[in-house]
Amino acid sequence: MFCLNHCSGTPRLTRRSLKLSPSAAALCFLGSLLFAIAPGSSAQTQAPGGISLPTSLRIQNPGWWPTKGDRSRDEYAGPAECAKCHADKALPYRNTAMAHAASRAADSEHLRRHDHLTFELGPYKYELVTTEQKSVLKVSDPKSSFTADLLWAMGLGRMGQTYLYQHNGNFYESHLSFYGVPQALDITPGHPPELPASTENAAGRLLSQDDTQRCFGCHTSFSKTKNEFDPASASPGVTCESCHGPGAKHVTAMTSGSEQPTADAIFNPAALNPSDAVDFCGACHRTWQDVVGSGLMSIGLFNVRFAPYRLENSRCWKQQDARLTCAACHDPHKQLVHETSFYDSRCLACHVEKGAKLTADHPGHPCPVSNKDCVTCHMPKLEPPGLHSAFTDHWIRIVRPGKPYPN
Ligand code: HEC
Ligand code: HEC
Ligand code: HEC
Ligand code: HEC
Ligand code: HEC
Ligand code: HEC
Ligand code: HEC
Repeated sequence: MFCLNHCSGTPRLTRRSLKLSPSAAALCFLGSLLFAIAPGSSAQTQAPGGISLPTSLRIQNPGWWPTKGDRSRDEYAGPAECAKCHADKALPYRNTAMAHAASRAADSEHLRRHDHLTFELGPYKYELVTTEQKSVLKVSDPKSSFTADLLWAMGLGRMGQTYLYQHNGNFYESHLSFYGVPQALDITPGHPPELPASTENAAGRLLSQDDTQRCFGCHTSFSKTKNEFDPASASPGVTCESCHGPGAKHVTAMTSGSEQPTADAIFNPAALNPSDAVDFCGACHRTWQDVVGSGLMSIGLFNVRFAPYRLENSRCWKQQDARLTCAACHDPHKQLVHETSFYDSRCLACHVEKGAKLTADHPGHPCPVSNKDCVTCHMPKLEPPGLHSAFTDHWIRIVRPGKPYPN
């Protein structure tokens, strides 16, 4: 898959994280008790200065956490309800990539615009034809052919879009993905480079139950309720309640009168400490511990996608300051801002300008080179091989020519 198949598996827990029973994890979740639980920290098992946990432990804790599927469907209100009172959040949210992290295949803008796509791979000829009703993938070689109705398009397609279909009751991931640049099909990242053995194998890869559920968990909403996986009731994309948790109780309370919102009725991530706040986004973007626990440091440039991992390796992060959480730079309710100057004030919240003295509140040195567009030099855009697109390196650092990419 696009987000690398091995990172979708359950992370192999590190020695340190294995020591954390779910209840111990609940404690860490509340405060900085980790050091008391597992002494002898090493750079390999713990984010520098931070308390990152694997998402698999986070979702065992009581209370809400993204990708958790223990609540029943009727506890969710659905995004249309939220929009009635929170138009300021709901209107801009409609244009975000997260809101469009999935669609039904036949609704995919890319497939509608390119309703007849073709590709050749060795003896295999691919045809992807989209009509008003459906999107059909056909793979043929001189001897046989295989046809599948595509069900889901995962990913908006800023970089690419991958398709899911069902065969014999199981979900498969398409061997080909649509790439935003160059607006054409190519092999899905993470798929084996060898020539597939049959038209069936050439069409796609069988997904394990676990991979299927996690795929839906990050790209759609309501796919799992009361711990039952039901992809047919999934809503495409990340919705308000993917982050804020089931909101029906909050809607009832707010509709019925002047009550203040309560934490048990709706989850407000603003209350999280900085480390937890980054792990919160990391439930889908992968936490530092998710990456380290599954050995993904060693994949080199490909781990540039895991913003929480990269960010928490920065020297800037050491003090775990709220001025450097994901939400400090990205309002999750709004579209990603591309103007580099927008981010300067974030850096200058901590870094003094040339000539000024460091203070307790401004612990960062001034830049000897420039006083603007900080991210262009210190958060470079890097392109992992084969992905046809660049990612922003969230490991804030001095990039010296010739120095290798730090893992
Ligand atoms: C009937 C109106 C109404 C509806 C519907 C509604 N809210 Fe609210 N919500 C409010 C009001 C009023 C507040 C308090 C003022 C504020 O923060 O905007 C609030 C506060 C919140 C907060 C902050 C809570 C806190 O502890 O500070 C969140 C998060 C939230 N709403 C999310 C949602 C989500 C998600 C939905 C849809 C499931 C939703 N709301 C539906 C009226 C509503
Ligand atoms: C429920 C899963 C989930 C959670 C939780 C989540 N994200 Fe995302 N996010 C995604 C997915 C999936 C995408 C890819 C969307 C696409 O392009 O298809 C994404 C994309 C993004 C992007 C890229 C937008 C663009 O225009 O390319 C940003 C920025 C982002 N998320 C920020 C955040 C922040 C900040 C948080 C925490 C407040 C967060 N995300 C939490 C799933 C999630
Ligand atoms: C743990 C959460 C998670 C899982 C599991 C996951 N994704 Fe993603 N996916 C993301 C996030 C976050 C992004 C955006 C950041 C990035 O590109 O890595 C993303 C990005 C993508 C993109 C690129 C979107 C774009 O706009 O270019 C595609 C395609 C994609 N995922 C497909 C899949 C498929 C298919 C599966 C399952 C078979 C899957 N993903 C499983 C979280 C996840
Ligand atoms: C990707 C995760 C994510 C999604 C999706 C999301 N929110 Fe939020 N929301 C947050 C975070 C994080 C905060 C806290 C922001 C902060 O730290 O200031 C927040 C804060 C809020 C608040 C509290 C008011 C405030 O400004 O502090 C409201 C209300 C709210 N969100 C409503 C919504 C609604 C309505 C939707 C759907 C249209 C939505 N959110 C979708 C992550 C999300
Ligand atoms: C100091 C500011 C800053 C912080 C903190 C930050 N980001 Fe970013 N992020 C950026 C910039 C700058 C871009 C590139 C914007 C552009 O040019 O499109 C970006 C882009 C992204 C993208 C789009 C894909 C890419 O790599 O270009 C995603 C996804 C993302 N950030 C997720 C996150 C998550 C998750 C966190 C928290 C771990 C986070 N960011 C924290 C500044 C920040
Ligand atoms: C929460 C406060 C904080 C924020 C926000 C912050 N930094 Fe830092 N940064 C620090 C501290 C503290 C250090 C270590 C002391 C120093 O070298 O100035 C540091 C170090 C650095 C270094 C030296 C890194 C090294 O490896 O030697 C660079 C470069 C840097 N920051 C750039 C930035 C840029 C660019 C931004 C915005 C994208 C940013 N910082 C945001 C606090 C912060
Ligand atoms: C044109 C590229 C460029 C831009 C733009 C830029 N920097 Fe730098 N910065 C550098 C380089 C190169 C160095 C290393 C200088 C050296 O050591 O010779 C550096 C060094 C630093 C350091 C380390 C200083 C020290 O004494 O250890 C910090 C902190 C820093 N920059 C922060 C920032 C901030 C904050 C901004 C935006 C206000 C910014 N930079 C804009 C290229 C840039």
